[in-house]
Amino acid sequence: MGRARTLAQVYRHFGEVDAAGASPLYERVAVALGESGEALRAIEAAPARKRRPEVILATLHDLALAGRAPALAAAYAAGDGDAAASAAIEVLLRMTDSVVAIAVRRQVRANETGRCAVLYPAIAEAARRAGANAVGLIDVGCSAGLNLNVDRVGITYSNGQSLGDRSSAVQLTASIVGDRPVPAQAMPEVVVRIGVDLDPVDVTDADDARWLRACLWPDQPERAAKLEAEIALAATAPPLLLHGDAVEVMPDAFARVPADALPVVTTTWALSRFPLESRLRFLHRLDEAAAGRAVAWVSAEGVGVAPAIPTLGDRRASGHSILGLAVFDGSALRAEAVGRCWSRGRLLAWLADS
Ligand SMILES: C[S@@+](CC[C@H](N)C(=O)[O-])C[C@H]1O[C@@H](n2cnc3c(N)ncnc32)[C@H](O)[C@@H]1O
Repeated sequence: MGRARTLAQVYRHFGEVDAAGASPLYERVAVALGESGEALRAIEAAPARKRRPEVILATLHDLALAGRAPALAAAYAAGDGDAAASAAIEVLLRMTDSVVAIAVRRQVRANETGRCAVLYPAIAEAARRAGANAVGLIDVGCSAGLNLNVDRVGITYSNGQSLGDRSSAVQLTASIVGDRPVPAQAMPEVVVRIGVDLDPVDVTDADDARWLRACLWPDQPERAAKLEAEIALAATAPPLLLHGDAVEVMPDAFARVPADALPVVTTTWALSRFPLESRLRFLHRLDEAAAGRAVAWVSAEGVGVAPAIPTLGDRRASGHSILGLAVFDGSALRAEAVGRCWSRGRLLAWLADS
C-alpha cells in the first residue's frame, strides 16, 4: 500500500489529472491551491472529509455565483485561470469560515437527468409486467429529484429508438451496447412524484438550485445549459420531497401513492451509501408495502450493491452497474437484472426479454 497523499498532492493530482483537459480553470486553480501553504491551511479548517478539491472548489464556485466573491466570478466568466487562482486563494483566506460552513452543510451533487435513459425503459417494463395503467414514482436517495422527471424528458438511443417526450426542453442521448433494443412501450401516466433523501435538494429554492450549479465546473457551458433546462423542467412540477432516512420514510411515501397506481421505487447509485443492514431493511420495506398491493423497484447500482438483484456473475467494482427490476406482487418476488449500464446511464445494454 502506498503512503497517503498529502493535501498538497491531492490538489495537484486533481488539477493535473482529474481536471486536465476537462476544465482549464480548475486545472489552474487546483494546482495553485496545492502550491499555496496559506490556502492549504485554510482548507484544513474544514473537517477532513470536506477538504477534497471537489468540495472546496464547489464551495468557492457557490460563493462566486452568490455574488460574494466577485473577483472570482469575473475570472471564471472571463476564463482567466491565473486571475481565478489568485482570487480563489484570496477568498479562501478572507472567507475561511464561510467556506467551511458551506462545505460542512453541503454534499457535492452529481445529479443528472442522464439516469433517465436507463430508468425509462425499466419503469415502463415494470408497469407492463404489473399490468399498471398509472405509476407513482418514489426515488430513494433522490438528491435533487431529477430522476422524477423521467417521463418528461426526451431520450434518443444510438440504435435510433426514442422514448419519452420529443418536445421536451430536456433531450438526452444514450448509447446502446449490443444488439438488443430497449422495450419500445411508453411509460403510463405518472400520478405522483416523491423524492426521499436524508438531505434532499429543492430546485425551487434559490440556494439549493445555486448549489447544483456550483457543483458544475465553471468552464462547462453545455452542462450548465443542460442543468438550467433540467431545473426549469423540474420546477414546473416539483416533486414532493420527504426528508429523512429512507427506511423510516418509505411507508409514508407508499401511503401517498393512490391505490390505483403502481408504486415504482427507483434508486440510482444511492444504495452504496446505505450500510448493508439498511439495504436489507430497505428491501424489507418494499416487501411490507407489497402486502397490500403490487410494488416495483428499479435500481441502477454497482454490481452486488442492490440486494436481491442478480449480479450476472460480474465482478464487484468492475466499472459498470446493473439495472435491476424487481416486482413484488403479494408473496411473489421476481427480481431480475434487465441490463448493464456504464457512465451513470450514458451506455446501456438491455438484457431482458420483453
Ligand atoms: C451518491 S448520492 C446519489 C444521488 C442520485 N440518486 C444520483 O443518481 O446521483 C446518494 C444520495 O443518497 C442519500 N442518502 C444516503 N443515505 C440515505 C438514507 N439512509 N436515506 C435516504 N437517503 C440517503 C444522500 O443524501 C444522497 O443524496
